[in-house]
Amino acid sequence: MREAHRRETAGEDIIHMEVGQPATPAPRAARERVARAMSEENLGYTLSLGLPELRERIADYISTRYGVTVAADRVVVTAGSSAGFVLAFLAILEHGEGFGLPSPGYPCYRQILKALGFSPHLIETSEDGRWMPTTTDVEALAASGAAGLLLASPNNPTGTMAQAPRLKELADRCAQHGLWLISDEIYHGLEYDVEAETALAYSNAAIVVNSFSKYFSMTGWRVGWLVVPEALTRTIERLAQNLYIAPPTVSQVAALGAFDGIEELEEIKSRYARNRSLLLNELPAAGLTNILPADGAFYLYADIRDLTEDSEAFAQTMLREIGVAATPGIDFDSLRGHSYLRLSYAGAEHEMSEAVRRIGTWLRSR
Ligand SMILES: Cc1ncc(COP(=O)(O)O)c(C=O)c1O
Repeated sequence: MREAHRRETAGEDIIHMEVGQPATPAPRAARERVARAMSEENLGYTLSLGLPELRERIADYISTRYGVTVAADRVVVTAGSSAGFVLAFLAILEHGEGFGLPSPGYPCYRQILKALGFSPHLIETSEDGRWMPTTTDVEALAASGAAGLLLASPNNPTGTMAQAPRLKELADRCAQHGLWLISDEIYHGLEYDVEAETALAYSNAAIVVNSFSKYFSMTGWRVGWLVVPEALTRTIERLAQNLYIAPPTVSQVAALGAFDGIEELEEIKSRYARNRSLLLNELPAAGLTNILPADGAFYLYADIRDLTEDSEAFAQTMLREIGVAATPGIDFDSLRGHSYLRLSYAGAEHEMSEAVRRIGTWLRSR
């Protein structure tokens, strides 16, 4: 990202397929709500668990979207889902305890766990299993003495999902073994075929992590939420109070407004869908032939083993020679990621077709 930025500042025409964020701002309704609040409201600290009105609104959203009823008391507004992970891990784990993380996966899970003195337990998933853990993995996790499983569906970097029956199987198996299930649902809303189900549909003990960053297009506002079992709310309230007092008030106000911007967000999503189709249709002819069609998020995870055994060098050369930035797989899977590349399609449509053109010309000339 730094190199892409440096080249862009120096005047090069860079296509950003390395970014994990929407190219769009927060929906207009969110920005207007904040603009009003800036001139009319105090915007001091809120309660540690968040603005009561926002907690209610999130509970309503969950009920409308999934048909699952959740008491607003179980909703905790957080400073991005990133803070949600810190709170959840601290609330449920003892020092040194292990936690299961499917690999490839979002790298911050393991870094957060390590930084807090817990121990990541990596689970190798497979392309054949759509990069999702299996019940056998849950059995092995339980046997290892780990405290739980973190599931991200749709997943970053693969965009693949554990659809409802598989999610239920995993939730049931975790419950059988007394394992915690943390479900990272940050890419919910961004599915292109089958809608993602929430872990809350199958378990009242699951901890759900979500955010306004991705579907709601509000990365920089740093606002997200947790849904936690009732017994955990007091612990989490105390942790949040001590760690950061309360999530940013201005962002919570924006988040309230964001729920009135769904139409705009659906338009953004249809652009992602068009980008996804374009890339899935055209990248194979350009020379990236092995890409699993992703179910959601805005990522494709390309198997590039025919082209390189060093995804980092490959990404650097691609950036240097054709100005297309992508993320090497080793960021997400230190064992097998050297032969994978993550391509983000959150950018503009014309950028996607230009990227395909550049990649095709480049790979043919190598
Ligand atoms: C899978 C996943 N979870 C969580 C996050 C953290 O997002 P935030 O803290 O902005 O909510 C990201 C960010 O890229 C992500 O990809």
